[in-house]
Amino acid sequence: MSTSKRRILVTAALPYANGDIHIGHMVEYLQTDIWCRFQRLRGNECIYLCADDAHGTPIMLRARDEGITPKELIDSMSERHQADFAGFGIQFDCYHSTHSEENRLQAQKIYLALREGGHIHTKTIEQAFDPEAQVFLPDRFIRGTCPRCKAEDQYGDSCESCGATYASSELVDPVSVVSGKTPVSKESEHYFFKLGDFQSILEGWIGAGHVQPEVRNKLKEWLDGGLRDWDISRDAPYWGFKIPDTEDKYFYVWLDAPVGYMATTHKYCESNGQSFDDYWGKDATTEVHHFLGKDIAYFHTLFWPAMLSGAGYRTPTAVYCHGFLTVNGKKMSKRRGTFIAARTYLDHLDPEYLRYYFAAKLSSGLDDIDLNLEDFEQRINSDLVGKLVNIASRTAGILGKRFESKLSASLPAPEVYEEFAAEADAIATFYEGREYSKALRKIMALADKANQYIADQAPWKLAKEEATLEQAQAVCTQGLNLYRMLITYLSPVVPRIFDDSCKLFGEELTWEGARKPLLGVGIKAFSPLLQRVDKDKVAAMAAASKPPSEDKPKEATKEKKAKKSKKAATVPEGCISFDDFSKVELRVAKIVAADHVEGADKLLQITAKIAPGDTRNIFAGIKDAYAPEDLVGRHVVVVANLAPRKMRFGMSEGMIIAAGPGGKDIFLLSPDSGATAGMVVK
Ligand code: MSP
Ligand code: ZN
Repeated sequence: MSTSKRRILVTAALPYANGDIHIGHMVEYLQTDIWCRFQRLRGNECIYLCADDAHGTPIMLRARDEGITPKELIDSMSERHQADFAGFGIQFDCYHSTHSEENRLQAQKIYLALREGGHIHTKTIEQAFDPEAQVFLPDRFIRGTCPRCKAEDQYGDSCESCGATYASSELVDPVSVVSGKTPVSKESEHYFFKLGDFQSILEGWIGAGHVQPEVRNKLKEWLDGGLRDWDISRDAPYWGFKIPDTEDKYFYVWLDAPVGYMATTHKYCESNGQSFDDYWGKDATTEVHHFLGKDIAYFHTLFWPAMLSGAGYRTPTAVYCHGFLTVNGKKMSKRRGTFIAARTYLDHLDPEYLRYYFAAKLSSGLDDIDLNLEDFEQRINSDLVGKLVNIASRTAGILGKRFESKLSASLPAPEVYEEFAAEADAIATFYEGREYSKALRKIMALADKANQYIADQAPWKLAKEEATLEQAQAVCTQGLNLYRMLITYLSPVVPRIFDDSCKLFGEELTWEGARKPLLGVGIKAFSPLLQRVDKDKVAAMAAASKPPSEDKPKEATKEKKAKKSKKAATVPEGCISFDDFSKVELRVAKIVAADHVEGADKLLQITAKIAPGDTRNIFAGIKDAYAPEDLVGRHVVVVANLAPRKMRFGMSEGMIIAAGPGGKDIFLLSPDSGATAGMVVK
């Protein structure tokens, strides 16, 4: 690998501002973050830019639904997105928005340059229009019966049942999702970008190694079929930027979305005293790498390079597509509790786990990757906790207890250290080529060797005899230095564990620095670097991801309803009927975890097991009365069939029964010993 310092601009796709980040998105933001951290670790100048994609019909309609302005919606979404990203340790150098002055100016500039070059023309087209809501309808906002297989309730562009693709006008009995009315066809003038003008430029670019082979093959098909003009305008009302020299035409969201990469560069350059042209100018020598999902390859490999070259800018160095995330082998699903919001994950589990797990599955290809929750638990516990962190805890533990945390002056097995150091280039090549799973396999094979070395030498035995004391210290020094090198190799993936390890060693570790062992100095006191994955917390995360309506019992028959209403009439005021009371399901639950809730004065977040395999996330206002560590292991009484309630900090899925006036004086009701989780309270 070249030793001269590279200047690299990296982007991940800009998340839509109409919804929260979920763990599917995280595949991309983590893949990109790992790559950027690796580049910086190698001494390259690498900036990671992103922004919210804040325009378009869905955002306009959602804001309308919620009774707020689109600006209010995108502002609060941007905050939520950034908090989620920060929670996962994603290190952006700048995070902006496509709804920004920089983007408005840059999008206009590109459009005007394309128009100047003769690449824009207008044409009148017919489009679906909602006569009640008075908006033109994108395909996704029209549903109806599939013209091919007659499956009902299909989207306006494709059928989920038979896979047919069609125009929304072909749907049988179409309805607008917005108003439920039948769409009408309405004419209007649209602006088009003449993609065909760029056929040969695109052929050249695609053939020059800027895209993955799989993508290149797909693009060749499109190019051979001839490129169609691209509709870049939308009619008012639309949430976006107005097209220059028009009254009521707006840029289609996909025109100004990728321009957001440039807008964010403007903002970054302004705050950091750098020059925009160094990144995007025609003769720029810096590298530009885009990471994105395969679903949006088309926009980034055809429209985007064509727009850039048509407007006189450089084209991207590389576009990297990744596959989609499935959970337990299937598409993420709310019903199955596998549509996991980034925030829900963070509420229950350590982000380092997911960073490692995704990295262990990622390659340079477009294959989908699967998060299997059982495999997740096993893999983290065996690799990260059992193999890697174990090296440090075994050796640092002995050094702390017996040798005042001091490292020996030399290594007893320098050749083993050299063997580990010799793998640096191979590991770097894997990271560079986005073959993270291969990099991790190599690192874990070395971790196995390190553990084997320690097991063979058995420093805990050596430390028992005066005669072999020094040897014990030397073996631990060797083991800890091997860990130091491995955690440096793995630092792009698990930055928090790496930072804590740097604290342990009292140094800022670098790729180069790890080549030389740390000897003859003291290390800091060891504190645990990573907890094992708790099965119950994984279950609690899945439970918190299920929609509330799932748990509602569906047993109220007509008869029962009739009976109930009769009885209700005879119940004295202020009382509930016996029937009503019998609906409350009280159960014994075991508290398996309890935590403080950041930003909440009174609440504790409690994970309560109410039956085997049924763990609930419950927020309880008992913080003044109980410390979390006193609660774990305790049995309590829980209302088990309370409809889940969305609270500011997450979903609460039950209620813990307690008595008392409040504050410090709250007392949990504790079943006698002998009661076990799941028992029904009678
Ligand atoms: N706003 C556009 C991108 C504009 S880029 C100029 C968009 N937004 S998105 O929020 O739908 O998706 C953001 C990124 O996350 C995309 O690259 C998309 O492929 C990726 N993913 C969304 N769901 C995903 C999975 N389930 N799995 C993996 N990646 C996923 O598209
Ligand atoms: Zn169909």
